[in-house]
Amino acid sequence: MSGTAQIGVTGLAVMGRNLARNFARHGYTVALHNRTAARTHELVEEFGEEGIFVPTESPEEFVAALERPRRLVVMVKAGDATDAVIQEFAPLLEDGDVIIDGGNAHFEDTRRREKELRERGIHFVGTGISGGEEGALHGPSIMPGGSAESYESLGPMLEKIAAKAKDGAPCVTHIGPDGAGHFVKMTHNGIEYADMQLIGEAYQLLRDVAGYSPAQIADVFRTWNTGRLDSYLIEITAEVLSHVDAATGKPFVDVVLDQAEQKGTGRWTVQIALDLGVPVSGIAEAVFARSVSGHADLREASRHLAGPTAKPLGDDEAAAFADQVEQALYASKIVSYTQGFHELAAGSRQYDWNIDLGRIAAIWRGGCIIRAAFLDRITGAYEAQPQLPSLLADKGFADEIAAAQDDWRAVTATAVLQGVPTPGFTAALAYYDSLRAARLPAALTQGQRDYFGAHTYRRTDRDGTFHTLWGGDKTEIES
Ligand code: 6PG
Repeated sequence: MSGTAQIGVTGLAVMGRNLARNFARHGYTVALHNRTAARTHELVEEFGEEGIFVPTESPEEFVAALERPRRLVVMVKAGDATDAVIQEFAPLLEDGDVIIDGGNAHFEDTRRREKELRERGIHFVGTGISGGEEGALHGPSIMPGGSAESYESLGPMLEKIAAKAKDGAPCVTHIGPDGAGHFVKMTHNGIEYADMQLIGEAYQLLRDVAGYSPAQIADVFRTWNTGRLDSYLIEITAEVLSHVDAATGKPFVDVVLDQAEQKGTGRWTVQIALDLGVPVSGIAEAVFARSVSGHADLREASRHLAGPTAKPLGDDEAAAFADQVEQALYASKIVSYTQGFHELAAGSRQYDWNIDLGRIAAIWRGGCIIRAAFLDRITGAYEAQPQLPSLLADKGFADEIAAAQDDWRAVTATAVLQGVPTPGFTAALAYYDSLRAARLPAALTQGQRDYFGAHTYRRTDRDGTFHTLWGGDKTEIES
């Protein structure tokens, strides 16, 4: 016998609760389940008037409340808890039912789960959901993987609850099979880390070099938010910087411990990039910067290390410097996205996902943490050239970087001379210069490898693999 609920949500912590409410507000009947039933009843008591909820107390009751094919959204902590929920529910399901995992799961786990459940006739849809608790309630960006068949039944519902971009398009698309959705969400988070790091570096430069207060910097960010940097992260940065701590009357940012936490998705982005051979140096620097910040003992023990004496700028110079920082931030951001999209393309190739990169940029335009006006440009670039090898190969982005590069170089040079750490800006610039270099010292690296390990090298002037007899008469042999 099947029930009347079109969708069910199990795991009613804040994200699950808000997602359930979002479905209900869009007219769907939503079955609810939570390990401790009290939370289920609280939701109905507090928000019952928002729509039709079917509260249940056991897995059996929950499954029975769902119409067929059953659609169950699992919103529990990524990892063992997800496996435990699957173990609990899968035996109660039938052919064609769909389990949707909306947590930040590792895509390899999602691949494993999808395969196991597919063999039992159950669809498993690993789904990236971005936008935090507000997004879950008012419209997140949604990145579902899994089978195309599961998207047929699920897609229209997700399209209803997803954020809408400025042109009204829902911020959801079928990303690709098995773990594609969680892979894309992981990369989204890696880019999020890089965006946040670059913004942090811009802030630090405006503070230490331009000599601006947090409130002044908030104004600078507000201005930037009206231009090409228009984005959610720039907008909230201005809010955070203008906030004053009630207890001390100091800028909020001055009373927060400067040790950044991380839950792991940024780190995964870098780990997977290393496996795929994709240089995501900007994202890596963002992860390392959080790591450095957290080494309190090391930082304390390093306070005696010498650095340059800062030279504060005058008012006019400071304003001109702020404009240069905007250029550096924008150019570095283009590089971060170039690297992130390279990873998406490499993952898609490696796992045969056939990800439409332009569509990914399109569904990140609303709802998610990295939503930005800029993403329209990325969609446009891939629409014009679906096989674009790199975002930097797009003429529009290349021209913009060319126009920004003098200021970008000046800002990073100032940062280095004044001793302000800017690993994101400098890594982005080094990546750019590496790509455009006529010759890289990699030729020397190859020579060294051949010298100490007979690892061989290729030549510029003819095909083949070669080794030089370094210990003998230095004859070159073809191997
Ligand atoms: C989102 C966020 C969300 C969360 C991340 C980042 O897209 O809604 O990315 O998934 O904030 O887990 O968290 P950390 O900074 O703690 O890694």
